[in-house]
Amino acid sequence: MEIALVLSKEHQTLPLAEIKAVLECEGINYSIIKDQEGLLLLNLNEKYLKNLPKIAARLSYTHEMIHIIIRTDEDKLISEAKNCPWNEYIPSDYAVRVKKMDKKSTHNTSDLEWEIGSIIKASLGENAKVKLEDPSTLIRIVLQDGMAISGYRIGQISKKHFYNLKPHKRPFFYPGSMSPKLARCMVNLTRISTGETLLDPFCGTGGILIEAGIIGARVIGTDIDYKMVKGTKENLQHCDINDYLVFQEDARKLELPEVVDAIVTDPPYGISASTGGETSENLYHQSMMSLERLIKEDGLMCLATPHYLNLDEIFKGTNFKIIEQHHIRMHKSLTRVISVLKKI
Ligand SMILES: C[S@@+](CC[C@H](N)C(=O)[O-])C[C@H]1O[C@@H](n2cnc3c(N)ncnc32)[C@H](O)[C@@H]1O
Repeated sequence: MEIALVLSKEHQTLPLAEIKAVLECEGINYSIIKDQEGLLLLNLNEKYLKNLPKIAARLSYTHEMIHIIIRTDEDKLISEAKNCPWNEYIPSDYAVRVKKMDKKSTHNTSDLEWEIGSIIKASLGENAKVKLEDPSTLIRIVLQDGMAISGYRIGQISKKHFYNLKPHKRPFFYPGSMSPKLARCMVNLTRISTGETLLDPFCGTGGILIEAGIIGARVIGTDIDYKMVKGTKENLQHCDINDYLVFQEDARKLELPEVVDAIVTDPPYGISASTGGETSENLYHQSMMSLERLIKEDGLMCLATPHYLNLDEIFKGTNFKIIEQHHIRMHKSLTRVISVLKKI
């Protein structure tokens, strides 16, 4: 079975890293057929088909996941579409949508939608029911570099979700809150599964905990500032996340009743979020020494830091090892470094 993923172009490396992490934690073996300009094609066993909607719903930097029915040269698309058993894929109503992923294609998008739509209609006969708004089956045609893909959409990442959960739309807001998309991606990079426990020891307004809670993790959050603790609880409840433990504590002295499976955190940079008079390096180093005791062996931590911090110094004397890193340019003088670390 082949699937196509249409990736966000917001970042060079995070979309693919996020997909790899989620497939790994869901135990799905795959091989990459093609990874080009925002389009990723994977080959995986048919038995995983039932797991894919849940995976698609977890991803933040992927727009769409498609189960490929036809993969061919662009000029052979029409003839292959005529031979396709569409009734095997379309049980009720449907719509056809074309996405051109570069300027090479000579096809006109709406003409091609109409042409493929007519072929499907002829194939389905009396059962054909076109529904342009919110169809039960969306047939997606993707054109890129002379290649045409046709398939049905398995899942679409809800843009509405990330929009509605923007930090300023939550009951408690404070400047410096992380975007829900990046928070979700960082959670995913720890390969956390449903029912496992995730800790954010600098939880601020709770953005990371919200995303972890939505994908079914149990969440623990702490912050040195009581205002943040109270605000995080309000925000979690607003998102219907009730399996949480949130309390006031200094990350450097944190104790927990159990070890956690993963840590995701965005400590203060000392710009909009205060480090409480401590240098960032000292605060980070002391916190990492304490967090090391709180995460299980082989557990992963995903950390956001400003580019000017020396991570070698911060992790000196700990058993955390960097296994993956991504850079996000925020503005001229700040690049955020997203590091995934393993406790070895
Ligand atoms: C950058 S903010 C976190 C933002 C969060 N990711 C969000 O989306 O809202 C950092 C937080 O660390 C907290 N903080 C500062 N020093 C701390 C310490 N020693 N222990 C725990 N929390 C601390 C601050 O109160 C602040 O809420």
